[in-house]
Amino acid sequence: MKPMISIPLFLALLLPGLQIAAAQAPADPVPEALYRQRCAACHDHPQDRIPPRFLLGFRSPNAVVRTLTRGAMRPMAEGLDAAEIAGLATLLTGRAPGTDPVPSANPCARPGSPVKVGAHDWPVIGRDIAGTRFQPAPGLRVEDLPRLKLKWAFAYPEGASGPAQLAGGRVFLASGDGTVHSLDARSGCSYWSFDAGRSVRAVTVALLVPGSDRTAVIFGDDQGAVTALDATSGARLWRTEVETHPLARITAPPVVHEGRVYVPVSGMEDPLTHDPDYACCTHRGSVAALDASTGRLIWKRYTIEEAPRPLPGTGATGPKHFGPAGGSVFTPLGIDVRRRLVYAATAEAYGHENPPGAYSVIAFDMETGAHRWQRQFMPAEKDRARICHEAGESDCRNMFSMSTQVMVRALPGGREILLAGSKWGWMYALDPDANGRTLWRRKVGKGGDLGGIMYGPSADERTLYVPVADTIVLPPQRAGGLAALDLATGKVRWQIESEAPVCSWQLGRAASCTDVNTCDCSSAKVAATTAIPGAVFAGGWDGHVRAYSTRDGRLLWDVDTAVPVPAVNGIEARGGQVGGYPVVVSGGAVYITSGASAMGRPGNALLVFEPQAEGPHP
Ligand code: HEC
Repeated sequence: MKPMISIPLFLALLLPGLQIAAAQAPADPVPEALYRQRCAACHDHPQDRIPPRFLLGFRSPNAVVRTLTRGAMRPMAEGLDAAEIAGLATLLTGRAPGTDPVPSANPCARPGSPVKVGAHDWPVIGRDIAGTRFQPAPGLRVEDLPRLKLKWAFAYPEGASGPAQLAGGRVFLASGDGTVHSLDARSGCSYWSFDAGRSVRAVTVALLVPGSDRTAVIFGDDQGAVTALDATSGARLWRTEVETHPLARITAPPVVHEGRVYVPVSGMEDPLTHDPDYACCTHRGSVAALDASTGRLIWKRYTIEEAPRPLPGTGATGPKHFGPAGGSVFTPLGIDVRRRLVYAATAEAYGHENPPGAYSVIAFDMETGAHRWQRQFMPAEKDRARICHEAGESDCRNMFSMSTQVMVRALPGGREILLAGSKWGWMYALDPDANGRTLWRRKVGKGGDLGGIMYGPSADERTLYVPVADTIVLPPQRAGGLAALDLATGKVRWQIESEAPVCSWQLGRAASCTDVNTCDCSSAKVAATTAIPGAVFAGGWDGHVRAYSTRDGRLLWDVDTAVPVPAVNGIEARGGQVGGYPVVVSGGAVYITSGASAMGRPGNALLVFEPQAEGPHP
């Protein structure tokens, strides 16, 4: 791939009034010049998913190096040597790579017993393969919530990369430094860790083959491969390259069902759509099925079936352009056991056309991968510009992405429906027996590039709890909230606004600050919600996690996750924005991952809470 050098020029033309603002006085002019040349166009003009420069400063220098060499910023750092990359990391974070505090191994005194997934564990991001994020047997009562106290904390080396999953008395998680860990759920001691040598994402724990006793930890990475480890020992079982496009990656965890691993494939070509010198675009999202025992690819299908071809009328003054492209699958796949279908929710197309497969829910046959049906949720061409303008968005593609895992939920009478949300702020209920026909739809957020609805709702037997992000509003307005919708009708049972944001992770910057280049305090509820009988947990971008009564939305518990605490692995855990991953509740404990690396927001904490014993203390 050719080096990218022209974005600053391009943006300078677009934004003549904007000066590039150096956040800190540079010690060394060389990295600063490199930053201006390669990075400033985006990070000094944060929009969409681009984190502002000051937020990159909260990250560890090693994490920045990894992002540039192995992660999402690989194309932006193309052609830079190790010294230049180290210089950029030092410039951005104020510390040299290699100076991060080193976590201790904290090994468990005894080897763990073989891992078996229990009925009330939380082994996949959606808790079950239908993605309900409902824990019917949490091991704690609503009355216990006010007594929750921190029991132990773990510091994710170089930041969180996925939520903690619970299975067989252990915690499994992926970290920003490319390691996967198996910890004891009671004490946090370590059974094993595995260095994947790549940027890894959220993990799934599952039985490899029904009826066997082989439990695996399965995860994707930023190079389009899926790896399976033995859950008990951490030994590698297999690794399969699912997609070979240089910008392919796997963002969401795979899901396992009946001996097959279903993999959602996304890409990191989207930031390049802004670069006039890039031959945009050739990456298409896809869905694959692998044999769980061997990793063998059984089938793979693109979300946009038509292959990209050179676009007429391009190439005269810049590179030839290609399309259709896009349709990434950033969310886990929904598994429909009864109809033997796999559902993908797809993101934007990279051009301004509207190819079938982007902005859609697609149903694939589990056996063969054949498209069974697909439905697109992009508004008509004539309405698009107006809707975008009303949402205050410059880029009219991303905001129409489907943003949540397709959830399969049974209504009280047994009838099943599908639930899917969009960044535009709509929640849809679809009929799985009528090719996804809309049963009801409800707009719960204003919508925009950062959502609308982002990581998705949870649902108990009667109610859907939808987190609303609407991140980009300026104080004193409050972004987002929480809506409880009747599953059968979509009617609003209750709806609450977000609380005033706190943001202690910003280290003293005022919550009322409005300059996106120096502060980023929002009350948005971006993270997925979690439901237990009587309560729903929602994470905030202000670093708090709150639990609300499912009856009326009354606040039951509120914790600031951005307060530094000592971690069992010997370094400090400090949360940040609770950015994406759901709170996990299992075995009477509440597991919170705070600080999500996906959008460059700071934080490295796994915080484990349990109710403190009642009665007098000595
Ligand atoms: C074309 C726009 C663009 C350019 C140029 C760019 N970035 Fe980024 N950067 C992004 C976007 C978008 C994200 C969020 C990525 C995501 O969500 O996966 C990001 C994220 C990051 C992150 C956090 C990544 C993570 O995985 O958490 C770091 C660190 C970063 N950029 C550093 C840099 C540096 C250093 C440069 C210059 C060498 C650079 N970026 C150039 C758009 C850009």
